[in-house]
Amino acid sequence: MATQVDVVIMAAGKGTRMKSLRPKVLHRLAGKPLVNHVIDCATRLQARRAVVITGHQAEQVEAALAPLAMGALPLQFVRQMPQLGTGHAVQQAVPVLDDDGVTLVLSGDVPLTQADTLHALLQVCDGQHLALLTLDLPDPTGYGRIVRGPGEVVQAIVEHKDASEEQRRIAEIYSGIMAVPTRLLRGWLARLDNQNAQGEYYLTDIVKFAVADGLPVLAHRIHDALQVAGINSPAQLAELERAHQRRVAEALLEQGVRLADPARLDVRGALTCGQDVEIDINCVFEGAVSLGDGVRIGAHCVVANAQIAAGAVIHPFTHIDGEKLGVTVGEGALIGPFARLRPGAELGADVHIGNFVEVKNSTLAAGAKANHLAYLGDATVGERVNYGAGSITANYDGANKHRTVIEADVHIGSNCVLVAPVTIGAGGTVGGGSTITKDTPAGALSVARGKQLSVPNWARPQKAPKKA
Ligand code: UD1
Ligand code: MG
Repeated sequence: MATQVDVVIMAAGKGTRMKSLRPKVLHRLAGKPLVNHVIDCATRLQARRAVVITGHQAEQVEAALAPLAMGALPLQFVRQMPQLGTGHAVQQAVPVLDDDGVTLVLSGDVPLTQADTLHALLQVCDGQHLALLTLDLPDPTGYGRIVRGPGEVVQAIVEHKDASEEQRRIAEIYSGIMAVPTRLLRGWLARLDNQNAQGEYYLTDIVKFAVADGLPVLAHRIHDALQVAGINSPAQLAELERAHQRRVAEALLEQGVRLADPARLDVRGALTCGQDVEIDINCVFEGAVSLGDGVRIGAHCVVANAQIAAGAVIHPFTHIDGEKLGVTVGEGALIGPFARLRPGAELGADVHIGNFVEVKNSTLAAGAKANHLAYLGDATVGERVNYGAGSITANYDGANKHRTVIEADVHIGSNCVLVAPVTIGAGGTVGGGSTITKDTPAGALSVARGKQLSVPNWARPQKAPKKA
């Protein structure tokens, strides 16, 4: 069996340049906190555990991650107070690590590393070597440089501030990610000092101990800088967000999805698309969204936690959010423009939902239509129902929610109030402007409004003449 992997995630740093009250690692990329990206990656690696090193705003970071403790990857926290460098950070974690494993060191502010890359690094480590993830940068300023000796053998990582002019010309940098057998790491960390330009305990100094002990240090050199890009400022966060979204868009295009503009798409979750899906500009997808074959999404839609079946069309400016309950849109349905589908909206095939119509926790059977300015909450709507403009279900009595049942083939006129709980019998018609408080029989016309009255030759009141 392969060596077990324990992931250590450094997240104690201050993040001053974010200029935010929120801890840096809790800022979001693609809708997800930076550190959660790192944890998700560790989960995909099937690590044995993850140890998160917290320091600055530790309580907030730990509280935000607490719900994940129930997840697939056992999560532990250790605190680093004060923060005396990356070596000091990892020193706080080693007491909870087991010597039989490999420690994979990651940073909570480096969100886009792919599991495949880390897997390759772990292969290089092979349970016995110190393995560094490195890459060449056109401008390596600020990074630790990989110093190689005869035969390209790695000899040291020299931090920028400690480097000579000659060393500063080295383009190969240490990414901040390494894999190291835990028992070796433990010994090397015990030998660290802070005699350097920054007066910090550098994790990177373990390289020189490995070399001194005659153990090879291996580098896994990659070319994709995005995977190791760290976030220090809002500008870097925005830049990485765009770069990430661009990749997501390219993958969708590659799959055959027609994006009107790959630069104007935001996916903050998992978007799955069938064949011949078209997405117009400026759409945002959140949580788990699936779009069936031939679905078209108009410009400026927000679609979250929803399943849209084949052939459905979502017209521009529609907002769909299923939150925890989800939203389903049936085959061939037409939604929007300016529609709002809320949690628990379940729309059957060929349903039409028009402008300024809100649907919440309601099922609409095939062919039902609500085309203008309406509210359907906690309703069960039968096939082919036509729900008139301006009509609403009064589902809330101030204390409890009640259901409205509208049976098949009912016509609800304009501007009706259906006071729940109430059932409109199949095939019935409700006259416009009615406030319906009692069940109506099938097939009946039900009207509940003041009778029309006309006073003939009505003389309008006149204004009193102005006083002189
Ligand atoms: C570090 C590396 C450098 C590498 C660079 C890649 C060291 C000494 N240097 O530099 O070789 O090129 O990363 O980005 O390791 N942190 C703590 N506690 C601390 C200090 C830092 O948890 O006491 C955390 C930070 O929050 C951050 C990570 O460690 O997530 C890296 O710290 P940072 O200060 O960005 O590293 P550098 O010194 O820039
Ligand atoms: Mg630093």
